[in-house]
Amino acid sequence: MTSEKLDIVGICGSLRKDSLNRKALLAAKQLMPPSFEMEIVEIGDLPIYNFDIQQVGFPPDATRLHDRIKRADGVFVATPEHNATMPAALKNLIDWMSRFRPTPFDQKPVAVISASPGPIGGARVQAEFRRSMAVVNALVMIQPEVFIAYAPSKFGDNSLFTDEAGRDFLSKLLVAFEDWIRRVKIAYPVKA
Ligand code: FNR
Repeated sequence: MTSEKLDIVGICGSLRKDSLNRKALLAAKQLMPPSFEMEIVEIGDLPIYNFDIQQVGFPPDATRLHDRIKRADGVFVATPEHNATMPAALKNLIDWMSRFRPTPFDQKPVAVISASPGPIGGARVQAEFRRSMAVVNALVMIQPEVFIAYAPSKFGDNSLFTDEAGRDFLSKLLVAFEDWIRRVKIAYPVKA
């Protein structure tokens, strides 16, 4: 496998300061393969999608996120589940990005994880996320899956992901994601 650096955009579906999913995203950043360089981008300043706004012109935050995602080699998302689906901020990001032609998610390798205080760790949000991302032609890695259930007990006071089995699952997902990105690059060379 080549050692070429891979530029990863990290996205947290939660906007709250003490977000479990942000802790999971930071844990992923620590456990990433050496070839990954991840920048976490903020999605909370995007206005709620409204075609009237788009008609006037894409808001600067939408354009900024479009440009950043477009040039990334991959996108890594950690998201909570809200009412069995995506939190509004994450859905809003997808809605805005879907309005660019082409969308920056087109043929983009994506991985998703979720963390929740509940017993199924956000399994439903991942299914919903995959459904919307298929519409924007994102290439969301299928396996392995990581659901961090009972998440408050798995992050120590210093926010470190203390769950040994969880760290192992997450590490394996990240290794698979590197492989996924490199395979996608071969299958879909960048268009001129
Ligand atoms: C939740 N929560 C939640 N959890 C879950 O596992 N399934 C669900 O459907 C929901 N629904 C839901 C709706 C709303 C509006 C809120 C605010 C919360 C609980 C949620 O998983 C919990 O608050 C997490 O801590 C949210 O993730 P962050 O913000 O800690 O990353």
